[in-house]
Amino acid sequence: MREHFEVRDGDAAGRIGELTVPRAGVTVETPALLPVVNPNIVTIEPERMAAEFGAEILITNSYIIKTTDDLEARARERGLHDLLGFDGAIMTDSGSFQLAEYGEIDTTTEEILQFQHDVGSDIGTPVDIPTPPDVSRERAESELRTTQERLELAETVDVGDMLVNAPVQGSTYPDLREEAGAHAAGTDLDVFPVGAVVPLMNDYRYDDMVDVVAAAKRGLTRDCPVHLFGAGHPMMFALAVALGCDLFDSAAYALYARDGRYLTVDGTEHFEDLDYLPCSCPVCTSTTPGELRELGPEEREEELAAHNLHVTFAEIRRIKQAIRDGNLLELVDRRARAHPAMLDGYRALTDHASQLEETDPASKGSFFYLSNESAHRPEVLRHHRRLDRLSPEGDVLLTEGSHSRDYDESWSVVPPFGPFPKALRNTYPLTAELPERLDRDAYEQAARGVARLVEANPDVSFTLAHEDWPDGALGLVPGRVELLNLWGDADGD
Ligand code: GUN
Ligand code: ZN
Repeated sequence: MREHFEVRDGDAAGRIGELTVPRAGVTVETPALLPVVNPNIVTIEPERMAAEFGAEILITNSYIIKTTDDLEARARERGLHDLLGFDGAIMTDSGSFQLAEYGEIDTTTEEILQFQHDVGSDIGTPVDIPTPPDVSRERAESELRTTQERLELAETVDVGDMLVNAPVQGSTYPDLREEAGAHAAGTDLDVFPVGAVVPLMNDYRYDDMVDVVAAAKRGLTRDCPVHLFGAGHPMMFALAVALGCDLFDSAAYALYARDGRYLTVDGTEHFEDLDYLPCSCPVCTSTTPGELRELGPEEREEELAAHNLHVTFAEIRRIKQAIRDGNLLELVDRRARAHPAMLDGYRALTDHASQLEETDPASKGSFFYLSNESAHRPEVLRHHRRLDRLSPEGDVLLTEGSHSRDYDESWSVVPPFGPFPKALRNTYPLTAELPERLDRDAYEQAARGVARLVEANPDVSFTLAHEDWPDGALGLVPGRVELLNLWGDADGD
């Protein structure tokens, strides 16, 4: 058991947890956002991050500090917390990102971990190899072997009570990501970043990002805190949390601000294009786009960065509340409408419904059916699995209408769940609120539920009394089921 991470609450594969960072003497509630502080270009002072934004932890780059003479000297003399002016937890990266960008770096895992330890980092990182997407299998395997050797080396470095990251690589090969996750979980390292996903996110490949993270999670164990390395746009946090990511780092708030870009949970705007500020953070309620335009470039950048950071932290709080309320997937559904690529990400998430179902709570406050994607939620899959454990007998009516004494048993049928004994009707998720105008996916999932029940009970005869289900759905119902259209065949199509 990893004693420094405790899961308190969950929804889908998302969770609220507590990460204890012994060296900092703090416990960080997850999901957590780690603002990136570039020690050479500070847009928002770390002190403000704690006081105004509630940041409990931040991330900086030990390689940049180590290779910048005056920073190195100050870090060694006074320590990282003093250098940055932050007394919460500080995670440090190792230069691996620079390795990926520039092809080489001048340090080793032992040296950089020792340096991170010596300057007082609370969570350090070995020199993993961020293998990009779509490389050859040979390259992905060989670089993963190197990363794994470095994690094993990291286990042998004496870093006191500093926690150590165990990055999970493997490019876009799900089996390699899963193996990498299992290997990392088998080390005595502490935090598990999924690495090299930045190129996927830069290319809006949220579906591939989902597959990569889902694969890594299959290898990791539930007590592993998972960081999504380099993911800082608030639009995708809910999706990543639903997959089981616990930590995010954001350089986006500062990088985008430098470019005059204004973050929202629905995407990114150029502040030059805004006539109104659609946000109620302290920046947006105290200024106007016109006033922002009149500021000098540095002041404007700082105001935009502050807004960007407010939006980012607010989304993390919203996600935590959604986990508490059991409606995280409904938040993901809303965020998926921001961009077609986000919708692909959400659809890829529902491809992993079986994996999400393992941790999804048995009961939640409500289930709002909001889109055809809702038909593929883990609750629907769980209900279908539960049908295997029920034993209908004799002549059984499955009906969307009223029940009948002409049968031995009379069950309800409700899209997207399918059949269930009447006695279960007040149990989650059968209490779901559905729109009147259902989509095909809802009927088809209900038909799959019918098929599952029918196939598990070869000696039972079934009649399905439905309210004019579409042919596509009826085509999924086994031929031996007698069909009764409660609406008649009046429209004759
Ligand atoms: N920052 C963004 N991606 C990565 C990664 O894969 N490894 C490390 N160490 N840092 C990163
Ligand atoms: Zn704002």
